[in-house]
Amino acid sequence: MRVDIITALPEIVRGPLDESIPGRAQSKGELHIEIHDLREYATGKYRKVDDYPFGGGAGMVLKPEPIFECFEHIKASGDEIDDVIFLTPDGEVFNQAIANELSLKNRLVLLAGHYKGVDQRVRDTLVTREISIGDYVLSGGELPAMVLVDAIARVLPGVLGDSSSALTDSFQDGFLDAPAYTRPADYNGLVVPDVLLSGDHKRIDEWRDQQRLDKTRKRRPDLLDDSDSSF
Ligand code: ADE
Repeated sequence: MRVDIITALPEIVRGPLDESIPGRAQSKGELHIEIHDLREYATGKYRKVDDYPFGGGAGMVLKPEPIFECFEHIKASGDEIDDVIFLTPDGEVFNQAIANELSLKNRLVLLAGHYKGVDQRVRDTLVTREISIGDYVLSGGELPAMVLVDAIARVLPGVLGDSSSALTDSFQDGFLDAPAYTRPADYNGLVVPDVLLSGDHKRIDEWRDQQRLDKTRKRRPDLLDDSDSSF
């Protein structure tokens, strides 16, 4: 999969996506990330990427020309683009199902807005999907773009060594994850549940299922429906 990220703050995005699972996805050739600095497509002495909103009001708005120019450049290189996603608090709220769905695409463009927003003409004509990562306002779309890429990278086929690992993540089947423990079995009197040391995989699976159900019921009852009570 190829992901092009358009941003006025490329430095925020650069380092972190080369680490951990997105980094591994890139070295395995499953993910190719290109970061585009909006300022390189701005003209004039000061290469302004934003301007005051027509009609007045607080904050600056990202100008349309550099974004359209940058997009033309992106379009000219590589395969057909499946979706142009604008990260914005008023988009559809991101979740595991959307991450899974996007992981099946071949090529995505992510547009990170900044300041007060982006000229509406970009949203009307270029953007095909608008996504929020939650009901709070960040100072820009860079962190949300990284959240999307991370969540997508870990479900790309061939990225996680243990292929079942992403599938047992919290949310992957609508339940939260069971608690995890590692050595030592006794840390200053804090002991690991016996069942996990028993070697009885049937009992361990049952225990984990029960833990997942209990935790989901307690913390996120909105994820359960009536049929889950007999889990
Ligand atoms: N930009 C600012 N806040 C955001 C959010 N919560 N989700 C996506 N993009 C954003």
